[in-house]
Amino acid sequence: MSSIIHIEETASTNSYLKELLLTQNIAEGTIVFAHHQTAGRGQRGNSWEAEEGKNLTFSMVLYPTFVIVKEQFILSQLVSLGIKAVLDKYTSHITIKWPNDIYWRDQKICGILIENTLGGGVLSSCVIGIGINVNQTEFLSDAPNPVSLKMITGKDCLLEELLVVIRDRILGYYRMLRGGDEEFIVKAYKSSLFRKEGYYRYSDREKEFDAKIVDVRPSGHLVLETLEGEIRTFAFREVKYVL
Ligand code: BTN
Repeated sequence: MSSIIHIEETASTNSYLKELLLTQNIAEGTIVFAHHQTAGRGQRGNSWEAEEGKNLTFSMVLYPTFVIVKEQFILSQLVSLGIKAVLDKYTSHITIKWPNDIYWRDQKICGILIENTLGGGVLSSCVIGIGINVNQTEFLSDAPNPVSLKMITGKDCLLEELLVVIRDRILGYYRMLRGGDEEFIVKAYKSSLFRKEGYYRYSDREKEFDAKIVDVRPSGHLVLETLEGEIRTFAFREVKYVL
């Protein structure tokens, strides 16, 4: 049984857990959960805002040595699905915005920061950092479109309870992957995508354009078809959704 390490305050649970892994043997599935993160880290070098005691900010360790490096995106997929499955119980309109943000309608409710350690062409360890806006109702940073569970449902939610169900759902999908059912995960991910049907506005480094999602490759690349019928493939950071 994997344990949950509760800590009062740390800069970043991802950094804390990575430090711990350097000096101790930590069981797979172990979680570090902080009541307060003073320097939470987001994607693209951004910071992650979470009011003390109001939100879930935690990191989990996995040892997916059976996953080859060029297919590591499957971990983002299964983690996003685990979180979505739980949030679906509280509200509708939860989707996964490629590559791995969790959205409610057009607003971000959860961010994920996965930091992998590679060895011999496989993933030796994987620190999965998850920030979910739960009971916070005012956001001060310049994050464009945050939303919390409380802003959606009007109710407070017990953080520890939510944490346990999310952990169990993620580990459930992880066992599925280990058991060989990758196809189920890939299909479920694609059918959960934000803006999965229809044309929307995107921007690359040069210009804005209208396109629809055609596919997400095992490498994690997003495949779009433009209004003009051109197929374009993007890595993370090469394209943005215009919201
Ligand atoms: C994003 O930018 O969308 C990713 C945000 C990830 C935030 C979580 S909070 C827990 C863990 N520790 C961190 O420093 N970051 C992640």
